[in-house]
Amino acid sequence: MSRMSGFLVFLVALLLVGVAASAKFDELFQPSWALDHFTHEGDLLKLKLDNYSGAGFASKSKYMFGRVSIQLKLVEGDSAGTVTAFYMSSEGSNHNEFDFEFLGNTTGEPYSVQTNLYVNGVGNREQRLNLWFDPAKDFHSYSIFWNQRQVVFLVDETPIRVHTNLEHKGIPFPKDQAMGVYSSIWNADDWATQGGRVKTDWSHAPFVATYKDFEINACECPGTAATADNAKKCSSSEDKKYWWDEPTLSELNVHQSHQLKWVKANHMVYDYCSDTARFPAIPAECLHHRHYRPRH
Ligand SMILES: *[C@@H]1O[C@H](CO)[C@@H](O)[C@H](O)[C@H]1NC(C)=O
Ligand SMILES: *[C@@H]1O[C@H](CO)[C@@H](O)[C@H](O)[C@H]1NC(C)=O
Repeated sequence: MSRMSGFLVFLVALLLVGVAASAKFDELFQPSWALDHFTHEGDLLKLKLDNYSGAGFASKSKYMFGRVSIQLKLVEGDSAGTVTAFYMSSEGSNHNEFDFEFLGNTTGEPYSVQTNLYVNGVGNREQRLNLWFDPAKDFHSYSIFWNQRQVVFLVDETPIRVHTNLEHKGIPFPKDQAMGVYSSIWNADDWATQGGRVKTDWSHAPFVATYKDFEINACECPGTAATADNAKKCSSSEDKKYWWDEPTLSELNVHQSHQLKWVKANHMVYDYCSDTARFPAIPAECLHHRHYRPRH
């Protein structure tokens, strides 16, 4: 085979992987509550919140490492009081969790995206940003990339948050629990919008979040296997290499680092790392995430 045709085969293989990874809702997920608040319209899935109920779905399988992604168009118009979430979570009191929470707002005011990360049952790592586009106007992709080195939250492929493995500094990193993938919409007008001052206006119900293009490209864990077996199965070894363990994916590339810097400088409105009223002693991982170097 010539070098060129080899390259074409490689390209086609890449495309096939890309297509195969984008599955229909039913192949990967199932409703977890309020089935009557789900509607399917062609390739679109709609979840509805009204004064009776919200709705939510969960992946059929649990996963370790890889990437999950959805295309989401948030509640249009007045979405104050509503929260739409997309997240991964393990089970139990020492669970790990990676969260996207979209906090609605009154008409014309910006949605906020809150991210959070739980490690061994402990969260309190909120960051918030106002996006550079209106997420209720069009579909945008929201993704979580996870390997043994980092957890990265991405919006349209732009990294908005990185949680780096700092185990060598004695800081625990979530890498030993299989996680499900979830999404839901619910009423949270006690806290979501402008600190809970703006309540849900039910005269504007139903509030509808629309989904398409569900992708999970990750290591699937059998429900019954013990935790240690999952971790072993989902780690690269001599005889199997997972794409997410490529050395180039052990940290952001230069372009992504610049994108993240831009997001932090221009769109971040809250960072637990800078909240000295809440955390008089700065959380340990914040020091390292900022590339803090103590002076001698
Ligand atoms: C929900 O809203 C509808 C329409 O505004 C109203 O008729 C109904 O009584 C409400 N139900 C509840 C449980 O509040
Ligand atoms: C809603 O809009 C207000 C006013 O622009 C803004 O301060 C706030 O961050 C926005 N987001 C939420 C979730 O309240």
